[in-house]
Amino acid sequence: KIIILDFGSQYTQLIARRVREFNVYCEIHPFNKIPQIDSTVKGVILSGSPFSVRDDNAPFVDLKDIKGKLPLLGICYGAQFLSQTNGGEVMPSATREYGRATIEVVDNECPLFANLSPRSQVWMSHGDTIVKIPDNFKVIASTADVKVGAFEVNGEQTYGIQFHPEVYHSVEGAKLIKNFVVDICGCSQDWTPASFVEESVSKLKSTLGNDKVVLGLSGGVDSSVAALLLHKAIGKNLTCIFVDNGLLRKNEFEQVLESYQSLGLNVIGVDASQRFYKELKGITDPEQKRKIIGRIFIEVFDDEAHKIKDVKWLAQGTIYPDVIESVSVNGPSATIKSHHNVGGLPEKMNLKVVEPLRLLFKDEVRRVGKELGLPGAILNRHPFPGPGLGIRILGEVTPEKVQLLQEADSIYIQGLREAGLYDKIWQAGAILLPIQSVGVMGDERTYEYVVALRAVTSTDGMTADWYHFPHEFLARISNDIINKVRGINRVVYDISSKPPATIEWE
Ligand code: XMP
Repeated sequence: KIIILDFGSQYTQLIARRVREFNVYCEIHPFNKIPQIDSTVKGVILSGSPFSVRDDNAPFVDLKDIKGKLPLLGICYGAQFLSQTNGGEVMPSATREYGRATIEVVDNECPLFANLSPRSQVWMSHGDTIVKIPDNFKVIASTADVKVGAFEVNGEQTYGIQFHPEVYHSVEGAKLIKNFVVDICGCSQDWTPASFVEESVSKLKSTLGNDKVVLGLSGGVDSSVAALLLHKAIGKNLTCIFVDNGLLRKNEFEQVLESYQSLGLNVIGVDASQRFYKELKGITDPEQKRKIIGRIFIEVFDDEAHKIKDVKWLAQGTIYPDVIESVSVNGPSATIKSHHNVGGLPEKMNLKVVEPLRLLFKDEVRRVGKELGLPGAILNRHPFPGPGLGIRILGEVTPEKVQLLQEADSIYIQGLREAGLYDKIWQAGAILLPIQSVGVMGDERTYEYVVALRAVTSTDGMTADWYHFPHEFLARISNDIINKVRGINRVVYDISSKPPATIEWE
């Protein structure tokens, strides 16, 4: 495997994803918590950082067990760090070194650049630059403004590059990463969905033995793939609980339950809608709504789980981005929205926790799901928030409003599918606004609700842009909703990106 030491760069996860695209396993660790470097570690990558190596509190790492012993690649800050700590000099750049640049290879022998074009576009993002390299370092590539675009250390498999090969705009960046992990480090490319399934199943078998496991299914990709993996490992010892909180999409509870059953899963469907509605009555504050929905879910789940005899484990669909310990640069980040739907569940239930997907990125979860035969309808579903329509009905949630929104949302989503747009969009949904407005239908005045449509493109939900629909599509959906859903007389489209807006309205 490859170890990536994180100095807090916004691109660190991207490095890991690039490495894994070549079916090579890698792990991200904070720079100040280097894991055991045993024989399974074939190479190390040092990430970029928002810090400057000249800062007094710049992240420092002791590489005595790594440098010169294992292949080592420093990217941006990582490269500057290697240079600075070995007798080179790093200074603030005279010219701004951000964005596109052309890198020219000056040493054709270097294996890091093997099979790359002599000149190619790369992406720069740094305020510092290496002005002098240590004596035993050698420049292997340069740009017009950056002489030390890349270096190698004589007699070692140590390399540094001042651009970012992991970003999409570095055209041959992926090839360079492949050169490092496959050719220089000698990693075998056997981290595939099939090998992951095989390994996980055998690990789960030995960890869980004959123990009983309970898992909460949500209809989303993560919990579904976790369920299939566990099912393959322990069969009937896995019981899944799927709770209808009354805040799902139209007919979703029945449809999803049915597809789970046809996959052979042992799943209990619990209709707890009324309990959720009752507790949400009169509540308008978004955070309070989230907390109530989370708490009732835990109570309902706990009640059901207690009916299963001798259950020892709680399985969760946690994925890698939730697990990676982030290197905090500006102190703990502010809570924008509390997303932890079921935080507190394991503590309350007094069960051991098993998280079979904790090493996977979202796209890898999808690939594993495909390998396990999860139907496309679940596999490619847009993300849906745990509190469901509860946070898409602004203000108080009532069963009547849920029904109204379900109808409008269903017309919208169905319309996306029919127009072939569903898979082009990362997430879409309808939002019921807490205002009424005047309209006219026939000869009658109406005074009804407004629905906002939201559709965004994104890769991880952290940033997002609104989707540019053809006007005809919006016109059709608006017409359909207003004509078919009694109680809605106005439709608007949300054209805000994230940031500064968020994807959900609450
Ligand atoms: P925001 O609104 O923060 O949403 O831009 C980013 C992504 O997170 C989802 N989301 C949630 N997911 N529980 C969840 O499981 C929540 O409380 C929650 N709030 C937002 C949202 O749907 C989007 O995909």
